[in-house]
Amino acid sequence: MIKIAPSVLSADFSRLGQDIKKVEEAGADMIHLDIMDGHFVPNLTIGPAVVKSIRPVTELFLDVHLMIEDPLKYAPAFLDAGADGITFHLEVDPPVKEIISLIKDRGKKAGLSINPPTSLDRLKRVLEDDNIKKNIDMILLMTVNPGFGGQSFMPEVLPKIKELKTIFDGDIQVDGGINENIVKEVIKAGANVIVAGTAVFGAPDIETAISELKQEG
Ligand code: DX5
Ligand code: ZN
Repeated sequence: MIKIAPSVLSADFSRLGQDIKKVEEAGADMIHLDIMDGHFVPNLTIGPAVVKSIRPVTELFLDVHLMIEDPLKYAPAFLDAGADGITFHLEVDPPVKEIISLIKDRGKKAGLSINPPTSLDRLKRVLEDDNIKKNIDMILLMTVNPGFGGQSFMPEVLPKIKELKTIFDGDIQVDGGINENIVKEVIKAGANVIVAGTAVFGAPDIETAISELKQEG
């Protein structure tokens, strides 16, 4: 099943609650929250306080994407704030097992991510550990270099999606530059969780935008 996760990075932050309700009513499956620390990526966004304020606004899954250098330190605060899933990046050399167990101990979903320049081999080495592999619910393959919304999709990630699909049974998420044309290719390659910021919040009609993104293959 294809799931659409609008990224609120492209929402209007002065009316974030209303924008989230709007995408929920328009058929979104999760809310994607981009957390940036100004170190791992050259931008700053929101912290746990904002996630906590969003929590009562929606029943949708809150998909927290940590683009931060120290996910071990901050993951608990996002879980306390109401995150349903936490995704962190391999590039920061995180203590993968420790972070996964603190997420899973609370019954939440764990995701691992790599950026376009990071090889799939690096991820495969981590997944060689069966205990890690069975506890990872989602792998996020970034389709832009993270930091900003509105960038262009990087087609060189397509073969990575295809290869990942052959070795990983869980959800495969893509994030960055996805629109109604590109979505067909990423779904065909094996992705099933689609993040979209500009293509949803920048669309003249959000409901149409979400249903166009949801079309299979
Ligand atoms: C990029 C973020 C994305 C981004 C997606 O660093 O992780 O979630 O907001 O936005 P679009 O769909 O506009 O590329
Ligand atoms: Zn993201």
